[in-house]
Parts: sequence; structure tokens; C-alpha cells
Amino acid sequence: MNTVRMDTTVQNPDLVTPALVLDFEQISQTYDRFLDSFPGGQIFYAVKANANPDVMRLVVEKGGGLEIASLAELERSLSVGATGRQIICSNPIKHPVFIQRMQEEGVYAMVVDSTYEVEKVAKYAPGMRVYVRLAVDNQGSVLPLAGKFGVSGDEALGLFDMAKEYGLDPIGLSFHVGSQCLRPQNYVNAIRACGEIWQRAEACGHSFHFLDIGGGFPAGHYHDKSIPTIEGIGDLTMEAVRQYIPNANPMLILEPGRGLVGESGRLVASVVGKAKRNGQEWLYLDAGVFNGLMETFEGFPPVIRLLAADADDREMLNYTLAGPSCDSCDVVARDMELPEIHIGDRLMFLDTGAYTNEYAVAFNGFPIPSVVKLERELELA
Ligand SMILES: Cc1ncc(COP(=O)(O)O)c(C=O)c1O
Repeated sequence: MNTVRMDTTVQNPDLVTPALVLDFEQISQTYDRFLDSFPGGQIFYAVKANANPDVMRLVVEKGGGLEIASLAELERSLSVGATGRQIICSNPIKHPVFIQRMQEEGVYAMVVDSTYEVEKVAKYAPGMRVYVRLAVDNQGSVLPLAGKFGVSGDEALGLFDMAKEYGLDPIGLSFHVGSQCLRPQNYVNAIRACGEIWQRAEACGHSFHFLDIGGGFPAGHYHDKSIPTIEGIGDLTMEAVRQYIPNANPMLILEPGRGLVGESGRLVASVVGKAKRNGQEWLYLDAGVFNGLMETFEGFPPVIRLLAADADDREMLNYTLAGPSCDSCDVVARDMELPEIHIGDRLMFLDTGAYTNEYAVAFNGFPIPSVVKLERELELA
């Protein structure tokens, strides 16, 4: 006899939409998969992906850390029980008040990637541990982060020297391969580049222990097998650390955002209107680019399911999906094949546990999704 898990929350007709249904058990299991796949690694969850206090508390209670970008994220981290030692800041541009508060709270370390930031950190957090963010290849990531942050190897060496001169404690390197990284080799290449700089810096008298491989771990493998797994990236990465940073046994830091919480979320939206325009069928939802689905605007392809018992029996049609606001940029998907949809039907957007509510605003008065905990029911089959 098998046991199957029935997901009752998303199918509940009383669920008020838009709703972001979060599966906390899945976050916990994914956290454990990261630990198993990166033996000895330490997770500092990138809070920006989903700063829901219960998600942050879960990570802290499992012994993990938090990666923060702002004063508000610091205060929230402390309020869910994180100690300073469980917090790092990988935002290269920081407000002086934020820097001061981080030092007061004993935040473990913060990133720098410019001479201005070294000066600022030295002024507002004297003696602070700092790491330098390296610019690395972001090709093959759905949302590249390259260009805005990061320095070359030579610049990194200059920043280490300067940091030391200014009384800071340079401890190592970080990078980010871009969000939803579909090319695991990018981690290997980035670690190789870190290894080279690590050795050059040590030859110049620095002593490092900190390697932060950032985020970028993709979500969605369970419905698209071509998406790299945490385990696969872990194998490649651990081998690269052994090969390129030998004898150092670095403190290996991971900053998953999407990779930790993305698959835990299902955004449920209702179809509130329909129209035929220039031969195209339009659907209007109660969630759109402004109130929950901003990532679709950034080119992230949504994965959508119709929540209807007879979904498999309906004729497939081609749709344009739009949000509820009056702005013409509020279009969530074009050329989307879906079973025929009626007003009042509900759609479920998969893998929306990250960058959904964090990006959302109630533009035009349309509410941001409420967060609902997934209730599971065990059923015998
Ligand atoms: C410094 C830093 N760390 C971690 C993350 C999380 O990235 P991801 O959600 O791709 O794992 C980001 C995302 O922007 C970031 O800027």
C-alpha cells in the first residue's frame, strides 16, 4: 500500500486569491539537501528571496545563517533569533548607519568591491572582517547579475591590501554566478578564479579562510529534468574547491535564495476577466507584474497549472496572460498554451517561493498575495 500526499491548500475553493502558498516542510528538506550536497558548507540564506519571518526563523532554528542587504533585513534577522555570528552582508553598497548597526550586533563579515566601500567600512566599522566580491561569468543564468557588482582579480588584490592598510581584516572572496544558473560549470570556473587570487594574495602576506560561492542555485528540477540539481552542483563545486584551493580547508559559504525557497511556493491567482483582442485571447488575473509576478517581467518564464478537476479534458488554447493593473506593461505571459479557461478559474504558478512577495507592491490598490502555509493531508491510496 502506498501513501500519497494530497495538497489540500491550493485546491481549497475558500482560499482567497492571490495567495502565496508556502511549503515549510519542503524548505526544511531542501536545506538538508544543501548540507548533504556541500559537506562542511554553511548556509547563509539570502533573505532577499523571501523575508517571511517564519521562513527566516526556520533557517535560523536549523542552525543556518542569514545573508542580508539592508538595515531592515538586519532588524528582522535579529527579531527571528539570529545572532550577529549568524549574519553576513554581501551587498557591496551599504549605508553608513547599516554598517554601524552591523558592527554593533557582531555581524560576522561584510563584502566590499570598491575603494570607496573599503573607506566607508573602515570608517563606520573599524576592524571589520571583509571579503571581496569577484566579477564572474554569468552566462547561462536566467537572471544575470554581472556588471553592477564585482571586481577583477587584480582589483581584488588591490582591495585586500587597502583593507589591511585601513585596519580591516580581509578574510577571503565571494562571487555570484547569476540567479537560476543553468550552467553549473560557472561555479567551477568562478572557484578556479578565486583559487588563483587566493594564492596570489597569500603570497603577498594575506591569510584567508572564507570562500563564499553565493546563490544562483536553480529551482524547478522536479518538473524540468534539464535543470541542474543541488546534488550535481554540489559534486562539481566540492571537487573544484579541493582542486583549486588545496590545503586551505576554507569556510565554505553558500547563499541560496531561490534554490532554498523557490520550489516551496505556489502562487494561486484567479481569472477575473477575459477579452479577445486582434484575434488573441487575453486572460486578466488578480496577480500580475506589480503584485507578485515581477519575475515574469524580467524574462523568467512562468510555469502554470490550471486548478480544475476537468483540466485534462479541456481543449488547449493559446493565451496572453495579464495582471489586474491599468499599466500596459503588466503582462505576465504571451503565447501560453493552456486548457480553455473560464472567468473564475484558478491558476497556480509553480516555483514562486522566491522573489514573489519581496518584489510586490499594491499598485492600483491590487493587494499583494497573502502568505498561506501549505497544509498537507496524508491519504491512503
Ligand atoms: C549577494 C547575493 N547573494 C545571494 C543572492 C541569492 O541569489 P539566488 O536567489 O539566485 O540564490 C543574491 C541575489 O540577488 C545576491 O545578490
